[in-house]
Amino acid sequence: MISKQTANNFMRLLVFGLLLVTGCKQKNKNTAVVKSIEPEFSISERPIGTYQGSRITEYTISNPYGVALSFLNYGGTVTKLIVPDRNGQLGDVVLGFDSLSGYLQENNPYFGSIVGRYANRIAHARFQLDGHIYELAANNNGNSLHGGIKGFDKMIWEVERLKGDSSAKLTYHSKDGEEGYPGNLDVSVIYTLTANNEFRIEYSAVTDKATPLNLTNHSYFNLSGGEATTILSHELRIDADKFTEVDTLLIPTGNLAEVKGPMDFRNSKAVGKEIDQVRGGYDHNYVLNDQNGVLRNVATLYYAPNGRCMDVLTTEPGLQFYSGNFLDGTLTTTKKSQKYSMHGGLCLEAQHFPDSPNQPGFPNTILRPGKTYSQTTVYAFTVK
Ligand code: BGC
Repeated sequence: MISKQTANNFMRLLVFGLLLVTGCKQKNKNTAVVKSIEPEFSISERPIGTYQGSRITEYTISNPYGVALSFLNYGGTVTKLIVPDRNGQLGDVVLGFDSLSGYLQENNPYFGSIVGRYANRIAHARFQLDGHIYELAANNNGNSLHGGIKGFDKMIWEVERLKGDSSAKLTYHSKDGEEGYPGNLDVSVIYTLTANNEFRIEYSAVTDKATPLNLTNHSYFNLSGGEATTILSHELRIDADKFTEVDTLLIPTGNLAEVKGPMDFRNSKAVGKEIDQVRGGYDHNYVLNDQNGVLRNVATLYYAPNGRCMDVLTTEPGLQFYSGNFLDGTLTTTKKSQKYSMHGGLCLEAQHFPDSPNQPGFPNTILRPGKTYSQTTVYAFTVK
């Protein structure tokens, strides 16, 4: 007969063992995770200013070991993501600003934002749907980028803490006609910090008129935690045999090109290894292999000097790998006055393919009344 105590201990060991073999498939040396499988979480709030008459608050979800996720009700902006390195040293792995004014500056390149109604580009800022032509707000060489001039990243979201204090639900009502998009759309996004150092994002939405919809998060990662000025030595793997070929304005040609040479990340390699052979740097949507709407591991980012590792899991068919090509060192009030120069951070934006509303060959992005949009993406942190 196995005593209840022995059985409990066995279960604990089993759960702990499972934690060790997931993620980057390496031993997780974070004692925070090792010691407590169910750490107590808390959520704190800090007022950081006002925007167009609304109070802006920074919310921080944290566990007792200092692992933390901070975000704003402005744009659902992720402002801090604090995770341990292989020595247990905590560090902030996302780019951001020290004050609200930083996030409000005109050339803020979507640091940490929720991007919508349509992440990435829609050619000529127009599309046809059910016999109507819709004209969108153009903000990028005559195209529409990341939802237009005032996308979801610049909106105020309602925030509700969820039970257990490890999750918060952000909601936003996007009106019919906003930035040219049809339909009243109700969007909700749940941010969760899990006991095994994952940042989980669950999006859902419903509409009263057919609309294109493509939501993502636009965090810029640099796993050095402020030590390295570029991400060129970070090693990246992306599980994709193809990418959506683009023209000089980054609009898809419709062709799915095979990854070759510098575009091939099927085996992990340094981001900087062949970046010089890619005009302008990486800014491409990878066509993820075998995606069928089920959450799966699609990419891994690793920074060898401190052992931080980040897996990306998603339900989405595409992953925009953007190597921070347009960062030019001119942003002000950056965290600790860091100079965010070219390649200072990189984005791994889980999404549908760019310009899908104009590309019949791409997976469908039209949400219709009566249907619910849902997507889940997880950024999972471990060390090796
Ligand atoms: C796009 C880039 C764009 C950047 C804006 C990325 O998602 O792919 O082309 O410049 O967002 O910060």
